[in-house]
Amino acid sequence: MHTVVDKAQLSPNVTRLVIEAARIAEIRRPGQFVIVHRGPGAERIPLTIADADQERGTISLVIQAVGKSTEDLVGLAIGEGIQDVAGPLGRETELIESGHAVCVGGGVGTAVVHPIAMGLAERGVKVTSVIGGRSKEWVIFEDELRRAGEVITCTDDGSYGRHGFVTEALKDLIEAGGIDAVYAVGPVPMMRAVAEVTRPYGVPTFASLNAIMLDGTGMCGGCRVQVGGKTVYACVDGPEFDAHAVDFRELADRLGTYREFEAHALEVAHRRATEKDQAAIHAPDGSCLIPALATAAETREAAAAAGEAKG
Ligand code: FAD
Ligand code: FES
Ligand code: MG
Repeated sequence: MHTVVDKAQLSPNVTRLVIEAARIAEIRRPGQFVIVHRGPGAERIPLTIADADQERGTISLVIQAVGKSTEDLVGLAIGEGIQDVAGPLGRETELIESGHAVCVGGGVGTAVVHPIAMGLAERGVKVTSVIGGRSKEWVIFEDELRRAGEVITCTDDGSYGRHGFVTEALKDLIEAGGIDAVYAVGPVPMMRAVAEVTRPYGVPTFASLNAIMLDGTGMCGGCRVQVGGKTVYACVDGPEFDAHAVDFRELADRLGTYREFEAHALEVAHRRATEKDQAAIHAPDGSCLIPALATAAETREAAAAAGEAKG
């Protein structure tokens, strides 16, 4: 069992969980991830190791609640636990040895790009991070990334930092020259747009692919992607690949394969939670167990009865 020792809400739908995982904290490398299985009946889902503390024996998972499994995980309280955390998985990031790298993060990808930025900075590479969110409240990991170098923050609505998309800020940096590599993590359209910005300049660009994963060990084939016309497995050959060679359209199509089932799973979970809440506040005879609610219900009943009497 991997106990949650710390928890923080980073943006309206992004939460950081710090969990006990001493062995993983000791050996993980930038770019690697874990496969998390909350407990009986739960799915296994991949999450990047956003940070690690070897002394405390903990790792940080930064989770965007997008569906049933991520909602379940962010619902964990401090002291509760995750049954299985398998990893570290995947290949470590190909970090350049010197020069100037740009790390581009969109949404929860900002946390995913953090270990890459730190790994580069530790080698003496100059790092500029370009991060973005819809508006100020959606910007995460800005302070953490400052430890690696300069941070350019962009918001779609201009409520904080530079007004506009991360790709516009990236283009300015690339045009100014002297950029040796770009690392991009975020939604597929963002990574694809980053690849198109850097392609004409021939700047090596790496994208961390968020393909659907089950086992994370190359056995199931679920995470297959096309890179340079070849089929590769994001879990064992990646998750990072040459962004100029990735077939992003196929990746986007495959990510949508189970959308109906996923939406259904979430709907059922929400319905069950509501039913559970209802069961918790009502006695078997249907009367309300919470005094304030009972009073309100009684008031409504009395008002209705009064109305009937008048009518
Ligand atoms: P669902 O409603 O089941 O799915 C929502 C969408 O998430 C789907 O349409 C699909 O595109 C994607 N998805 C669903 N199941 C999986 C799966 N088993 N594997 C991958 N994608 C899936 N998210 C974070 O918030 N933080 C991270 O640090 C992070 N790191 C990742 C690292 C890797 C290597 C990969 C491949 C994905 C990572 N993700 C991360 C994405 C995360 O795994 C999915 O958002 C999560 O699995 C969705 O599960 P769900 O049941 O909550 O949502
Ligand atoms: Fe099964 Fe990659 S997750 S092969
Ligand atoms: Mg799911």
